[in-house]
Amino acid sequence: MKILKAQALSKSYYTPSEVNVLKSVSLEVEKGEAVAIMGKSGEGKSTLLHILGTLESLSSGTIEFLGKPIGSYYLPKLRNEKIGFIFQTFNLLEDYTLLENILMPARIGRKDPDLKRAHALLHEVGLEERKNFLTKHLSGGEKQRASIARALFNDPDLILADEPSGNLDRSNSQVIHNLLLKCVKERNKTLIVVTHDPELAGLCDRQITLKDGRLT
Ligand SMILES: Nc1ncnc2c1ncn2[C@@H]1O[C@H](COP(=O)(O)OP(=O)(O)OP(=O)(O)O)[C@@H](O)[C@H]1O
Ligand SMILES: [Mg+2]
Repeated sequence: MKILKAQALSKSYYTPSEVNVLKSVSLEVEKGEAVAIMGKSGEGKSTLLHILGTLESLSSGTIEFLGKPIGSYYLPKLRNEKIGFIFQTFNLLEDYTLLENILMPARIGRKDPDLKRAHALLHEVGLEERKNFLTKHLSGGEKQRASIARALFNDPDLILADEPSGNLDRSNSQVIHNLLLKCVKERNKTLIVVTHDPELAGLCDRQITLKDGRLT
């Protein structure tokens, strides 16, 4: 079953002159698949991921999620329940504690926060001892691991990860890679990950490269 089908996506920014970042991007991803997106800096990988995650508008093209046009969904609910986004820039709430950040998806979804699950995730990313720290007091790599725990908290079907181990040393990278791949392989989740790391790309089922606004 296809979880995502993107056809002929294009995206331009006007800054004020037009920058045509994505020219014609088509991508089909099966449920349970792990796909790595690679490519040079500035090619539009983050832009593509934001569009697939419904966080940014497209200039033209279509996206289907589980066989239905993305426009037929109530997007805040789709984002909250079905999609886990790991941002390149983390986007944590800096004046809240780490634990509060992890629980935020539950609060936004108006569900009782599952504290046991939050602690289990904090343990998996090695941050249990930091849970009551304000996020602004965490290191870059700690913030990255925190953002991964937050993305996984609502048990999303689709995980969109933008360079999730970009700030981590080798052993922490491996912890994160295993955690993401475990979700895919053991729990039938789907992963689309932007990465420069050949090791992480190699663990995925498929590797595609974004170049000159197209996937190859
Ligand atoms: N909001 C925006 N407004 C204007 N231009 C933008 C905007 N976001 C991205 N761009 C431009 O689009 C291009 C692609 O940016 P993007 O962040 O998607 O690249 P990337 O492949 O993720 O790069 P990196 O590997 O450095 O993270 C860049 O040239 C950038 O300047
Ligand atoms: Mg990027």
